Amino acid sequence: MKLMANVVLSLILSTTLILAFSRGPVPGVTGGLGEPTCNQAGCHNSFELNAGRTLGLGDFTISGVPEKYEPGKTYPITVTHTQTDGRAAWGFQLAARAQTLGEQAGQLQPVDRNTQIVLDGGIQYIEHTLQGSSFRTFTFNWVAPDGATGPVTFNAAGNAANGNSSPTGDYIYTASATSQSPQAQDQQFAQVQYLPHIAVGGPSRGIHMSTTVFLINNTTQGASGIGELFSDDGIPLPLQITSSGANSLSGLGSRFDWRLGPRQMVRVVLTIDAPDLSAGWLRVSSDLAIGVTAVFQLFDGDRLMTQAGVLSSPARRSAASVYDHIGTGTDTGLAFSNTSDQENTLTLTLFGGRSGQQLQTTTLKLPPNGHVAKFISELFPTAPNITAMEGSVSISGSLPFSAMTLRVDGTVLTTLPILSDGSEQ
Ligand code: HEM
Repeated sequence: MKLMANVVLSLILSTTLILAFSRGPVPGVTGGLGEPTCNQAGCHNSFELNAGRTLGLGDFTISGVPEKYEPGKTYPITVTHTQTDGRAAWGFQLAARAQTLGEQAGQLQPVDRNTQIVLDGGIQYIEHTLQGSSFRTFTFNWVAPDGATGPVTFNAAGNAANGNSSPTGDYIYTASATSQSPQAQDQQFAQVQYLPHIAVGGPSRGIHMSTTVFLINNTTQGASGIGELFSDDGIPLPLQITSSGANSLSGLGSRFDWRLGPRQMVRVVLTIDAPDLSAGWLRVSSDLAIGVTAVFQLFDGDRLMTQAGVLSSPARRSAASVYDHIGTGTDTGLAFSNTSDQENTLTLTLFGGRSGQQLQTTTLKLPPNGHVAKFISELFPTAPNITAMEGSVSISGSLPFSAMTLRVDGTVLTTLPILSDGSEQ
């Protein structure tokens, strides 16, 4: 009797398990970000992935994804199968994730009983239900993120199945779509400020750097806005962002939202647990005029070795910086961020301090939203005696840029304000 009961039980269990998939697959099979699909071995792998499309039997598409999303807006998204020949059941799974870090972007919401959400590692996967698998199209909502979190990628895998209640004889498709992020300019911000250089990274037990940004609201009203981090190539730069107080935030990201009450201040610490130093820049957009300043800190393990403070630096078409390498092991670093979304060419001219003579000229090309930081000795490697002289560098851009100077003497950092070069337009 007991044996009979066990046989029946395992039969019920295996049948339930087997039928589980047509009720919706396990999370994480959209084929996006390196994930497998329904076409993996042991599943629906009777045919090559996308064989149905290649053979012209049908297609699988995602529609309704906005070219550029509006923060917080709801968009109806539709996933459609067109293969019908010999097909009796259809299914899909889709995820919407930030392109930079792959984290969940916005919210997916079923609008009927034909779809359901399964979760894995903080990611929402929307997929067909058993009831829904009788239909070829699936519609649901996507609520865009509250702010501009960078481009969002939608990945989906779909199954045009033959209805034999088994994984055989089914055609698996993949599809993807991307929705671009609104830029700060798209959101009405009264003020945009630039920190043309941030430096982070290095082994946490060795020499490493962090950049701490302070946002100060010296007004009697509430202020809010966003901070966006960019790499040398002008793409969103994901860093560990930790901030205090009313804006308590800790996570990896290339952007942060902030809110400040009257007279409030927030401290945003930028770090990265990476063996090498990396750099980029920060754009702070706000609905009110606020103060933005930062401190670069150089550590040896837990010991603070040196630090230097800097103010945000406005966008300009020309600027000048001094350098003084007389009698010390000093070098002067110049950092530039391209504040426009087109390629920018900077022309740098080196002048001798005592002679006032023009010594050399060089150019730097910055991609849209790009960044570069170089020592004067790197910018003018063949300038005679560059590491032991004084002078100035004048900088002009084909488009506006933001700049700052960081003087390095061994392990001591100092910032030097950027000057106007007198030819400011
Ligand atoms: C997004 C990915 C997937 C989709 C859209 C999907 C969809 C479906 C559909 C529509 C059926 C019914 C098939 C029919 O009656 O002909 C089904 C059945 C089945 N699927 Fe999948 N599937 C997916 C992934 C997987 C994966 C990864 C596995 C294996 C781990 C799997 C295993 C099965 C099995 C064993 C059945 C037959 C039992 C049943 O009907 O539940 N599926 N799947």
